[in-house]
Amino acid sequence: MKKIVVIGTGYVGLPAAIMLARSGYTVVGVDIDEKIVEAINNGVLHIDEKELQELLNLQEVRKNLIGMDTPCQADVFIVAVPTPLDDRKKICDLSHVISAVESFLPYLEKGNLVIIESTIPPLTCREIIIPLLEKSGLKVGTDILLCHCPERILPGNVFEEIVHNDRLIGGINQESSLAAREIYSSFVQGDLYLTDDVTAALCKLMENTYRDVNIALANEFALVAEGLGVDIKEAIFLANKHPRVNILNPGIGVGGHCIPIDPWFIKEVDPKHTNLIMTARRINDEMPEKIASQIRQKVRDLVKPQIVALGAAYKPDTYDIRESPAIKIVNLLREDGYQVELYDPLVKEYAYDSLLDVVEGKDCLVVLVEHKKIVQELESNLELIKSRMRNPLIVRFYL
Ligand SMILES: NC(=O)c1ccc[n+]([C@@H]2O[C@H](COP(=O)([O-])OP(=O)(O)OC[C@H]3O[C@@H](n4cnc5c(N)ncnc54)[C@H](O)[C@@H]3O)[C@@H](O)[C@H]2O)c1
Repeated sequence: MKKIVVIGTGYVGLPAAIMLARSGYTVVGVDIDEKIVEAINNGVLHIDEKELQELLNLQEVRKNLIGMDTPCQADVFIVAVPTPLDDRKKICDLSHVISAVESFLPYLEKGNLVIIESTIPPLTCREIIIPLLEKSGLKVGTDILLCHCPERILPGNVFEEIVHNDRLIGGINQESSLAAREIYSSFVQGDLYLTDDVTAALCKLMENTYRDVNIALANEFALVAEGLGVDIKEAIFLANKHPRVNILNPGIGVGGHCIPIDPWFIKEVDPKHTNLIMTARRINDEMPEKIASQIRQKVRDLVKPQIVALGAAYKPDTYDIRESPAIKIVNLLREDGYQVELYDPLVKEYAYDSLLDVVEGKDCLVVLVEHKKIVQELESNLELIKSRMRNPLIVRFYL
């Protein structure tokens, strides 16, 4: 069986490494974070995904997967390191991808397959990765194969999605795509679509941009409805009765590691044709400030209101807090001098034992993220929760 080195064992790389190890490959998970390497070697998952932890407990997975802090020789190298937005230049920061590729250059051999799973701007494989790989003296396309296979998983539901989502396999040539298909078909039950590297990268960015633009439209409708005194939920419900209309739900802003970032990678390659995309980005970025204003309005008659905010994750039913609009809203309120405590039952650092204790003597409960767990708790205990508060003011958005 082939040996696979996965560089970067975070939300994306570690699940892939576990699935490949379960498929029988010998897998080396490489990370510059030694705590992660140690956790892998101790069979401990550092991300909160129950089913993946169960897989990692399996003897065959433990046997096939080891963690290391540097790469080694292998048949396949998979790169799953971060590609954040350079906040100043508003372009993709490829430094992690570049150093990840440089780290395995000394181990590259004829016949190797390199797969980039990190989200990258279109043309990155051709303009950056190929010249980098060819520093090894090997020719990409003949000596080494190269594919961009973007990931679509949702943190919190990774096991289900990594197996069942359809996937794009973007080879720089047909041989590369076929080689990568063989690897992914060992655990993916969704369809595998073969395409080229540029198309695969653009598709990934289009998917997240599509979500961003449509959420911005829903958010803009919500702001208009608010001004008109119209119930936006009812308006969307009724508008969606049109056979060709499907308006999304508005929200408090857009977060996570992908949707607020990926549209910028399209702008980076074609600034002339991304006006709508950038307007949507701005609308969604402004939502936390608008929601903070709505909260200020709700508590304006209270003297020194003590506020409890529920939900820190970037969206319902995930523990991921990256780019979370909820946290931005809480910070905006705190900067204004409001006393705000933040809790989230799904996020370890914001967890609580009892919601009833948390709201004791408080003036306002703001529900920022409607996790199922939060909704259930509110529905089953609403009267009791209110009775514990000094002022029974509960603020929810767009319900
Ligand atoms: N998280 C998601 O839901 C998601 C979904 C789809 C795509 N992506 C994309 O996948 C890529 C990885 O994202 P993630 O969420 O897994 O990030 P992450 O931060 O969870 O994990 C990345 C890991 O790479 C390690 N790392 C960084 N540089 C390294 C190097 N040179 N060598 C070895 N290890 C290195 C980090 O220590 C970290 O553990 C990004 O491009 C992201 O945009 C993420």
